[in-house]
Amino acid sequence: MKIGILSSGGDCPGINATIRGVGKVAIMHYNMEVIGIHNGFSGLLQRDFSALNERSLSGILNLGGTILGTSREKSFRKLIVPDDDSIIKKRYKESGLDCIVCIGGNGTQKTSNMLSEMGLNIIGIPKTIDNDVWGTDITFGFDTAVNIATEAIDRLHSTANAHKRVMVVEVMGHHAGWIALYAGMAGGADVILLPELSYDIKQVNEVIMERARQGKPYSIVVVAEGVEIVDRKMHPTDYIARKIEKETGIETRETVLGYIQRGGNPSPFDRNLATRLGGHAAELIAEGRFGRMVCIKGGKVDSIPVCEVAGKLKLVPPRHELIIQGERMGISFGK
Ligand code: F6P
Repeated sequence: MKIGILSSGGDCPGINATIRGVGKVAIMHYNMEVIGIHNGFSGLLQRDFSALNERSLSGILNLGGTILGTSREKSFRKLIVPDDDSIIKKRYKESGLDCIVCIGGNGTQKTSNMLSEMGLNIIGIPKTIDNDVWGTDITFGFDTAVNIATEAIDRLHSTANAHKRVMVVEVMGHHAGWIALYAGMAGGADVILLPELSYDIKQVNEVIMERARQGKPYSIVVVAEGVEIVDRKMHPTDYIARKIEKETGIETRETVLGYIQRGGNPSPFDRNLATRLGGHAAELIAEGRFGRMVCIKGGKVDSIPVCEVAGKLKLVPPRHELIIQGERMGISFGK
């Protein structure tokens, strides 16, 4: 069999480990031919391919980014038309590929499903630091991003303490609050604001002032980038930091972690998760089980029909156990 691999959407640590996992199992265990498709789905249109072999798959396990390059797939999706002479179907047939492995987040899996419904053999592998792909317990990239954000929050404690300031730190996650919840709790934040939970800035300020009254005139406020704010032209952190400073009178500074959370080497956990998912993708191809996304369910590698994933988001449940535990320890979620 001849398979193609592509990475699409935002990059994250672990994509190369996944490419390696699929490629090495396909080549060494199933004797398949493996082709890299460059820069996401656009590489299929532009026939931008390169052969992958044991040599090109070596030394990439711990590398951030993606050796294949990536792109956002919105423009590609417009070309997906049901009729047979679509350019995509033509390119797929010309390529001689028996299957395409699509490594990506929500948007990518939605596109994968559309290609699958057109009759292309597709296997999806969920990827994102946001951890918001429906149908899998966890996505690779998330653990690394939580490690990066937690280390940053740890560092903010000492400067907040030294200056008796409130530090507001914004983490990524798109519309989901998984990074904010896990890094906020691991980093000992005093306030954690999630898109999934409404919050009252007056309540946040009351928590901060109560801490000051108890002799702790500094606080750490972790804000997910997707939280709702009144003035949408501002970064949530800027808006919230200015409101806190104005109403509490305590000096407040803000930090936006941004793309640092997506850079650098994957954590060991993410390397192994990526390897497990990649190897299972190769197994599904060998068994001819296409139109599926590999996933983790109850800690085990599994797979589900990609049509069940398309268009859905996995958001933080309002009564997640970490939220309940945090509330019992006096951590505010803005209520
Ligand atoms: O989906 C991953 C992510 O980093 C989100 O957390 C963030 O909102 C988005 O990508 C940024 O998109 P882009 O890389 O296109 O600026």
